[in-house]
Amino acid sequence: MIIAPNPPSDGVRVAMIEHNGAPIELIEFACKRQISLRAMCDHDMPAIERWLNREHVRKWFGEPQTWLDEINAKHDWIHYYIVEYENTPIGFCQYYDCTKMPKGLWEEEQPGSFGIDYCIGEEQYLNRGLGSVILQKLCETVIFAENPKQIIADPVKENLISIGLLEKNGFIFDGWTGLYKLAISQTLKEMSDFFNVRAPIYEEKHIKHIGGMESKDIIASFFPPHTQTMIDLGIGTGLELEAIFRRFPAIEVTGLDIAEDMLKTLAGKYPDRNIQLFCESYLTFDLGHCLYDVAISVMTLHHYNHQTKTDLYRRIHNCIKNNGIYVECDYMFSENEYANPQKMEDLHFTEFERLKKELHITDDREYHYDTPCTVPNQKKMLLEAGFTNVREAYNRKNIVILIAYK
Ligand SMILES: C[S@@+](CC[C@H](N)C(=O)[O-])C[C@H]1O[C@@H](n2cnc3c(N)ncnc32)[C@H](O)[C@@H]1O
Repeated sequence: MIIAPNPPSDGVRVAMIEHNGAPIELIEFACKRQISLRAMCDHDMPAIERWLNREHVRKWFGEPQTWLDEINAKHDWIHYYIVEYENTPIGFCQYYDCTKMPKGLWEEEQPGSFGIDYCIGEEQYLNRGLGSVILQKLCETVIFAENPKQIIADPVKENLISIGLLEKNGFIFDGWTGLYKLAISQTLKEMSDFFNVRAPIYEEKHIKHIGGMESKDIIASFFPPHTQTMIDLGIGTGLELEAIFRRFPAIEVTGLDIAEDMLKTLAGKYPDRNIQLFCESYLTFDLGHCLYDVAISVMTLHHYNHQTKTDLYRRIHNCIKNNGIYVECDYMFSENEYANPQKMEDLHFTEFERLKKELHITDDREYHYDTPCTVPNQKKMLLEAGFTNVREAYNRKNIVILIAYK
């Protein structure tokens, strides 16, 4: 009989196995606090190579060089962590966005699916209950960072220990794909709540997520030389402004955002610049007529559907001057990234509708859910809204910049 241990007092959980009323064995369980994950760095590579070559890892992970090549490729959709037991590295784990995997592989998985792998490289830490804690920590990391819909593991079918561990932690075998899946109950956050909560960590996480500042810094270079006024829709903490102020120090900026805390971060940043901020939705704010040389929106419109965007584009078209431009930088599904971009767009919209139905959301408030569109659809909407020409000026991975001319 196993007596469930009380909450640990000193970091060690003990389960007592009784035999005829007498304790016969004490089993030490890992306390969650003893295990931590930290980002992998280049200097971890010798340890990783050593672990991958250990028989007990190689047996399930396969050829070490394949793993090393993948790690060295530094794909931005795979996130690697070192597992530490009381600050001693003992293994590694990773999670990855299934939709970004090489074309064809797991492409059928719904958006928001993240795959995981983990191993304990140091033999003396095996059979101590650490696997479960590592799995839980890794799942917590994915949930916090990605708001996933499901977490997926693909253990070798003979690896019964790993399968037992997954099942114990709520993963369910999917007979169709042969994968083990943990469904994460989904919630939808109202848009301003979502960004207000994230405001303190937004910049660090967002810059990492988009692979640096290149896509923001380049925006200023598309502005006409005569630019004096601009409006920024969904300005957030104003990451895109720094390069704009470098090129146009005297520019008059009107910024809109519905998340007050994002605007608060921005408010203190540029005390000497000409900025007017409004905590309002760009879907309802009066954008005015022929006021701006340039209108921009950066990483914000991928939350809205075709109709909402086309209506907004009409109002943007109306608010810029006759020789003005609109610059949109956003996540878009492009053929460079996906075998079938339209299918990806459809999947996201369908999933969003399914989720709203499941959560009985019937109001027309704005909810945070990513529904990027394909590049051709984006262009079509802008032309429909009255722009005479749309040019694709930048395309790196899933970030595209379109310039629309009035
Ligand atoms: C991913 S952030 C981008 C912020 C900034 N443009 C950047 O690139 O770092 C998206 C921003 O759009 C804002 N947003 C979303 N929907 C909005 C709406 N309808 N009206 C105004 N702001 C909105 C959010 O509050 C959030 O600050």
